[in-house]
Amino acid sequence: MKTNYWSVDINVDIKNNYPQVVEAAQYLKEGEVVAFPTETVYGLGANALSDKAVAKIFKAKGRPADNPLIVHIANVNQLDLLTKEIPETAIKLMNEFWPGPLTLIFKSKPDAVSSLVTAGLKTVAVRMPDHPVALALINAAGVPIAAPSANKSGKPSPTMARHVLADLEGLIAGVVDGGPTGVGLESTVLDCTPEVPIILRPGGLSKEEIERVIGQVDQDPALKHSESSPKSPGMKYRHYAPSAPLFLVDGDKAWIQELIDQKRSSGVKVGVLAPEESASFYKADAVVVSGRRSDLKSVAHTLYQALRSFDEKNLDLIYAEVYPLQGVGEAVMNRLEKAAAHRRITQVESEK
Ligand code: TXA
Ligand code: MG
Repeated sequence: MKTNYWSVDINVDIKNNYPQVVEAAQYLKEGEVVAFPTETVYGLGANALSDKAVAKIFKAKGRPADNPLIVHIANVNQLDLLTKEIPETAIKLMNEFWPGPLTLIFKSKPDAVSSLVTAGLKTVAVRMPDHPVALALINAAGVPIAAPSANKSGKPSPTMARHVLADLEGLIAGVVDGGPTGVGLESTVLDCTPEVPIILRPGGLSKEEIERVIGQVDQDPALKHSESSPKSPGMKYRHYAPSAPLFLVDGDKAWIQELIDQKRSSGVKVGVLAPEESASFYKADAVVVSGRRSDLKSVAHTLYQALRSFDEKNLDLIYAEVYPLQGVGEAVMNRLEKAAAHRRITQVESEK
């Protein structure tokens, strides 16, 4: 399949109502899948009402059928198509954070969307992305758009159009290039169906920000204990991993450098993932910088790009520094834990 490429300059093309986006929307109307930018990561969209269209998403990504998709909407009226029950907490959150990196889980209206979207669950995940191209595309398509991240299953989510093409060129009808995404990590997924809402996936909007608006929320216990089964099906899959095994290293720089030296002295090629503050300290076969420790949003912004870049470097193992679980640090560490398959070396333990 030929994969179309549409480049959009957000500031310039808005004046003509994004003609490229209108062309891309035509493919969506015809039941094809098209990748597009959001404020979090690139999504792979299809008409959420069409089984045939949604099936193409699963096929292109190699996504397991039991992993449901987020439905993207451009205005709150479209929510009425999807659910009859909008809890008070959800209304407050939508007023405060939509459009934005927050996905809400509602009880679904029966047969509202393709059953492939919900993977047979009685709930539906919905979000309104904060990106002019995404909103223009949904509006032009005229239907809610089901969209997972536009990567091959298991790979880090794409934060640039070229990541989408690296994974899916030839398999999808097109990609709209709106430049690099802002947040860099996926949306926070919040289940609003229980009395006390539950975070199923930490993401671009922090727990603290949500609690400021609706008071205390819970976190799916599976996020802390890798052995229990998560409420969000997607969270159980291996994810975000570079091809070389990645280990989290929790200790000071000198100790991390000793670990690196030990491995390299026996011929192992070692990569390091570190923030600007410490990157220049390390001597290794490759050092990849992701943001600044003093600004965890900057770490989130480039994390996936950094993880992807390791695959070009021919390494045997990767060490990654850890971050505090504050603000977006919770989401950064959730993704790094997955990339590491929870492998962690801590300084105290190794010194015992
Ligand atoms: O930022 C984002 O959320 C991006 C952009 C493209 O919007 N999308 C995204 O989609 O990350 P995806 O498919 O990669 O992740 C969706 C997550 C999965 O963990 C899935 O299991 C969960 O949302 N999910 C979807 N519907 C659900 C439901 N009804 N109940 C529980 N979890 C659900
Ligand atoms: Mg994904």
